[in-house]
Amino acid sequence: MRILLLTHAFNSLTQRLGAELQRLGHEISIEFDIADSVAEEAVALFRPDLIVAPYLRRAIPESIWKHHVCLVVHPGIVGDRGPSALDWAIQSGEAEWGVTVLQAEAEMDAGPVWASATFPLREAKKASIYRHEVMQAATQAVRQAVERFAAGGYTPAPLSACKEARGSVRPLMHQADRAIDWQRDETATVLRKINAADGFPGVADSLFGTACHIFDASPEAALLGAPDARPGDLLARRQTAVLRKTSDGAVWIGHVKRTGDFKLPTTLAFAGESAALPEIALEGWWRAEGQTWQDIAYEESEGVGFLHFEFYNGAMSTTQCRRLRAALAWAKTRPARVLVLLGGTDFWSNGIHLNVIEAASLGDGSPADESWNNINAMNDLALELIETDGRITVATLAGNAGAGGCFLARAADLVWARDGVMLNPHYKNMGNLFGSEYWTYLLPRRVGDEAARAIMRNRQPLTAQGAVESRFIDACLAGDQDAFRIDVARRAAEIAAAPDLVDRLEAKRACRAQDEAKKPLAAYRDEELNHMRRNFYGFDPSYHVARHHFVRKSLASWTPRHLARHRDLGWKVPE
Ligand code: COA
Repeated sequence: MRILLLTHAFNSLTQRLGAELQRLGHEISIEFDIADSVAEEAVALFRPDLIVAPYLRRAIPESIWKHHVCLVVHPGIVGDRGPSALDWAIQSGEAEWGVTVLQAEAEMDAGPVWASATFPLREAKKASIYRHEVMQAATQAVRQAVERFAAGGYTPAPLSACKEARGSVRPLMHQADRAIDWQRDETATVLRKINAADGFPGVADSLFGTACHIFDASPEAALLGAPDARPGDLLARRQTAVLRKTSDGAVWIGHVKRTGDFKLPTTLAFAGESAALPEIALEGWWRAEGQTWQDIAYEESEGVGFLHFEFYNGAMSTTQCRRLRAALAWAKTRPARVLVLLGGTDFWSNGIHLNVIEAASLGDGSPADESWNNINAMNDLALELIETDGRITVATLAGNAGAGGCFLARAADLVWARDGVMLNPHYKNMGNLFGSEYWTYLLPRRVGDEAARAIMRNRQPLTAQGAVESRFIDACLAGDQDAFRIDVARRAAEIAAAPDLVDRLEAKRACRAQDEAKKPLAAYRDEELNHMRRNFYGFDPSYHVARHHFVRKSLASWTPRHLARHRDLGWKVPE
């Protein structure tokens, strides 16, 4: 079938559904829901058999749903309606939640139900639930709905006739519903409120007497800070986060958005104020005892070292890259012969930290200089990984990876991804950025010159399975988070215990030496950085403009041509 994806943005759910449907043999094109007339034009050009709307912020126009079946993905259980579905579910501590695929009609989320799926609701950020449980349930439900539509003869049940309908109509969640009462709210309540609003819109609050939205909260078990501190007081700082007292404990707040600005690490957005708080640093890199917030943590088991790096949104600033490199260099002094780089739960890495770079423009700093520092710190980290000659290194992607983050992963000997993860191993979407992280060395040697050029040019997301097929990664493991972790640990321990480990390390050293003799890594880096210097400091401001819009979340005013295939010159509806 020809399926048009009508969506607010090409977010990870849209990417996943597009890839899955394409895999099933359907022809996919994408249009951003910018205006009724644009959507109507896309329908006229593409003449779809079916329209799927993975992520919409407004209703589909009647001119479209009257004449075409439009399947809308709603992130709520059957019967749930309204624009804050996940927010209410998380904030009210629902045990189970779900996704419903409805047919668009005049009333929002009220059409007949084509398919649905449920899942146990984890205590986690809304964006994390969206990227894991919602993504999985939506993929399952959309596949079922599309199969039912394709087979013909299926009549979707009206909402009123659905036996499983137990949801209700709930309004937009307002900031008044989210407000934290620091005097009364316990840590668990504060976490639920911030999680329900994370990544968007955050909880309106204030820090250091300044209004801001807060994000990225983690609990602290130890009693830290002044003994006479009162609930609401700020107690301490650590890396990007500050610690704030609740009525029965404390929470770390990692990110904030000051009014009129964009999301930033708290200790950067309030740099001067945070610096005055006592710093409670963690000693070394070992996983800390007890519940606390730790962005880089190392563990060991069965001859394998595991390095976690839980950076919010997978964005890696200059400081974070340098710290991670120091942790990696230290891990290489441990006896473990296999080193697993686990990244974070939601993202492995999305490359250089565009928000921190943009923040340089708020003061008298230079975003070009900060971009330069960041890419060099990222390259130093990638080099540390490539030059790990006494260990087998494995990058294990439990979460998505994008741009430089994909090539940082590829700098490891092996890359394994969880089924369901999306990879975007290309840079051009960010204002035609050339990219670095030694990709010109790492990519062609894996996939060949022609395929490397195609990956960079086509700018398409890859599913974990697609990435194995294109040889970009080595294995696609279980989709379930726990099963993935267990499988990673088992496979890594097998490599560590295998009798051929010494030979394998010897072969790795020989291969690296051969490559170095042919063309030194320094030469790849110089060539890439020559392009990047032009991106950052040259006449063409495309990268700075693209970053500005990305960070400030400017609304798209057209669908990129590589996604809207129906707008290709010469595209014709097949007879
Ligand atoms: N720097 C700062 N923030 C980043 C980031 C980066 N490199 N990459 C992603 N983010 C943020 C997004 O702004 C968004 O923020 P939010 O919490 O306010 O919503 C969040 O991470 C999730 O990103 P989103 O785009 O919604 O996730 P996705 O899974 O749908 O898409 C990507 C993933 C990688 C395709 C997309 O985030 C992207 O293009 N990122 C930029 C990659 C890049 O160009 N890096 C620089 C070159 S190395």
